Amino acid sequence: MVIVEDLYDIYGTLIAKKGERITQHLIKRVKNMPKKNKKRAAMKNTFIYRDVKKTIHDPRYRIIFDEGHIKKAKILKIAGNTFFEDGIIKELAYMKKNLPYTYKHELIVGSLTIKMTLALKAHRLNSRTASYGAFTHDIGKNRIAKKVLSKPTALTVKEYEFIRTHPTIGFLLLVRYEKKKDSRSAITAYQHHERLDGTGYPNGLRKISIYAQLVAANDILDALLAKRPYRKESFKLRVALDYLLEEVEAKRLNRDAVYALISFARKDKPEINELKVSLRKRGKSPKGNVYGKLVHAVYHW
Ligand SMILES: [Fe+2]
Ligand SMILES: [Fe+2]
Repeated sequence: MVIVEDLYDIYGTLIAKKGERITQHLIKRVKNMPKKNKKRAAMKNTFIYRDVKKTIHDPRYRIIFDEGHIKKAKILKIAGNTFFEDGIIKELAYMKKNLPYTYKHELIVGSLTIKMTLALKAHRLNSRTASYGAFTHDIGKNRIAKKVLSKPTALTVKEYEFIRTHPTIGFLLLVRYEKKKDSRSAITAYQHHERLDGTGYPNGLRKISIYAQLVAANDILDALLAKRPYRKESFKLRVALDYLLEEVEAKRLNRDAVYALISFARKDKPEINELKVSLRKRGKSPKGNVYGKLVHAVYHW
């Protein structure tokens, strides 16, 4: 993977030059660059928290965030106690202004991922690590031209390849801002388009961080439910969940993550190990979509 344009952090410092390869050496260099603003803030003390509170009431997600035994207040508490470095808060402010659709998507995927970690108790996940990574997974899109991201017509090969650099860009930005040594959220950004069968990008990995696997399922769900410039209608929740199930059957997505979403979408909110899933009843994707085309669109950004 090569950097396609000079990459700057939000303070205007050059992080990586056009044409540079992503190597351990480059990652180490970015990690060791002097930090610009060492301040961190709990999300609850920022505009992001107010926006999450609104987003969690999005009518498309009513049933999903509907109470059950995992309350909205619990999700908000974990989100609110997630600490972000100053650079990340500034990136999200920039995204809110320039890419409002992507910003809202970050907030939905963040909230869903927290809920998932609370449902998947057996995995012993750290909800705050998940929260940090999920709320920032698409931060790399801040460096992709808006006219490319929202292009209603087919992309050129160059544009398509450019969009597909967003996990790598996001990874480098997070490595740049994060103070923690393990950078698990940077890895979530890096791996959220990888698929368990090795068909994802940027590296075609089969061994993917569990946090990136959860984000991947939520990422696709929100892409299907959203109105996008490249398709007329969004998916109904039921049809979107069927699509995710097919991805589990094809061994591309994490089964427990998708089962958790199905459980959230049921009124009785069954435990995941008690969930009965019918593989027969399939709904139809919205009119005006060629399924293959849509898969292509969903899959690649
Ligand atoms: Fe993405
Ligand atoms: Fe995303």
